[in-house]
Amino acid sequence: MDIKDTYIKFFENKGHKYIPSSGVIPENDPTSLFTTAGMQPLVPYLMGAKHPEGTRLVDVQKCFRTNDLDAIGDKCHHTFFEMLGNWSLGDYFKKESITWSLELLTKKFNIDINKLAVTVFEGEKNIPRDDESASVWKSLGISEDRISYLDRSNNFWIAGNSGPCGPDTEIFYWTSDEPVPKKHDPNDERWVEIWNNVFMQYYMDEKGNISPLSQKNVDTGMGVERITAVLEKKDDNYKTSIWKDIISQIEEVSHKSYDDPKYTKAMRIIADHIRAIVMISGDDAKIKPSNTDQGYILRRLIRRTIRYAKKLEIDINSDWDIKLASMIIDKYAKYYNELIRNRETILEVLKTEKTKFNRTLEKGLREFEKITRHLDEDMINKDLVFRLYDTYGFPIELTEELALENNLKVDTEGFKQKFKEHQEKSRTASAGKFKGGLAGDGVIETKYHTATHLLNAALKEVINKDVHQMGSNITAERMRFDFSCDHKLTDEEKMKVEALVNKWIEEKIDVTNEIMSKEEALKSGAECMFIEKYPDEVTVYSIGNISKELCGGPHVKNTGELGHFKIKKEEASSAGVRRIKAILE
Ligand code: ALA
Repeated sequence: MDIKDTYIKFFENKGHKYIPSSGVIPENDPTSLFTTAGMQPLVPYLMGAKHPEGTRLVDVQKCFRTNDLDAIGDKCHHTFFEMLGNWSLGDYFKKESITWSLELLTKKFNIDINKLAVTVFEGEKNIPRDDESASVWKSLGISEDRISYLDRSNNFWIAGNSGPCGPDTEIFYWTSDEPVPKKHDPNDERWVEIWNNVFMQYYMDEKGNISPLSQKNVDTGMGVERITAVLEKKDDNYKTSIWKDIISQIEEVSHKSYDDPKYTKAMRIIADHIRAIVMISGDDAKIKPSNTDQGYILRRLIRRTIRYAKKLEIDINSDWDIKLASMIIDKYAKYYNELIRNRETILEVLKTEKTKFNRTLEKGLREFEKITRHLDEDMINKDLVFRLYDTYGFPIELTEELALENNLKVDTEGFKQKFKEHQEKSRTASAGKFKGGLAGDGVIETKYHTATHLLNAALKEVINKDVHQMGSNITAERMRFDFSCDHKLTDEEKMKVEALVNKWIEEKIDVTNEIMSKEEALKSGAECMFIEKYPDEVTVYSIGNISKELCGGPHVKNTGELGHFKIKKEEASSAGVRRIKAILE
């Protein structure tokens, strides 16, 4: 049985529409580096926006979490993982959700109902105890003994600090060969959580205030790796069908055995990281290794993989990494066909970063040994850490890891301080060099910011008022703009949009801004994409009476500065969302 196929088909039969996974790099959310849950790309729809595919959705979402990075190497943690999920956007609620979950688990996954237990929210001041979920469970044959009522830290779900949220009911499976206890004990780790059904009916603001959403939603999440281990009865995720051939391949290139405890951890790290590297570099966001944001995580993953490959005495210069990456691409292409499209990019990222790091790794490791031989204390000071970073390309985390293996400490705080000073120095230097204004966050990008507001306004005028911004991305070469729209733009529409933006440019209209409270801004009719992402005090940019938007800027002072606006491409971005790429000439 293919678990993903079975899950998706089951919910399709219950009237759900399958939607492809969004990127593991969020497309339209500059506040998060990675997609960490299936619901993340659906936030606007949980908040009430109409989803083009309807009110019942099912998917398998590519997710990546950095909080478990240090735990990788044990038998159950992963950086990248897949999350199966089904959603009701103001459609069905607790009864159907719970009933279908149990039906899938017992009828399709053939799990014995006697091995299940559930938890529900015990309630607090303004939110009642979830007796409704409990009584649905009971009506389906889960005994009162197998229902635990727990507090907010266990049974109330929210992504981060603010956003749509609600009580949840979690389903646990008894994984041990010991007889199943009559009563559920939430502290007994042999009960493993396999599914989380969140009943999203509230919104929490940054201050923690809770208010009802305009609709009651269901958001569920089931980790593919976890359920696979349960169904295949393995207590080590890496022994399941997901990892088996990848581990075998690592055994082959290293001539070592996974079951030899000396090598198990290294093999798990390599397997986990290579898959994450494929997924991050294979995303359409085209992330490259770098020293910031997602690029830095990618770099860390690759460098860490190489170091562990070295530990296994793998011939680093052979194509061991390409072989592994290719296997993963083929294995996952069915649901994530961008991996096929981006195959060359993925392999190129691996090759280039390997070459870069390989040049200095050996020397850096020797330097590390030299440094540690001559220490007067059990602490590696900030200057030495910085040297390893700057000269040998050792991410701080790598130095920390090496230090830990040698029972040493690292002056991380000191390093961070020194790193900041160094960055400031080089920023000042480059600001001097690019005084003309062509540096990263320079004049060109600023022009594109303003052009984005004009394009948004023009689309509303030419197509209709219901066109909304769904995302935007700006580089020095072009602007990209995603918007809700149910059809491909006609040539005439494109021409009209282009002409209108150029007309506004020629009219040399002043761009002004005002700081006001978020409430005032909304009342004044200012537009914005994710209101909940903004602080209480916001800047509103206006372009004459053409456009008014909440925005962090920066913008030009007058539209006359923009030059000529030209649409280069109009294409589908996702269902119901179109994408325009445009330039200023
Ligand atoms: N959003 C819920 C989770 O990630 C389903 O657990």
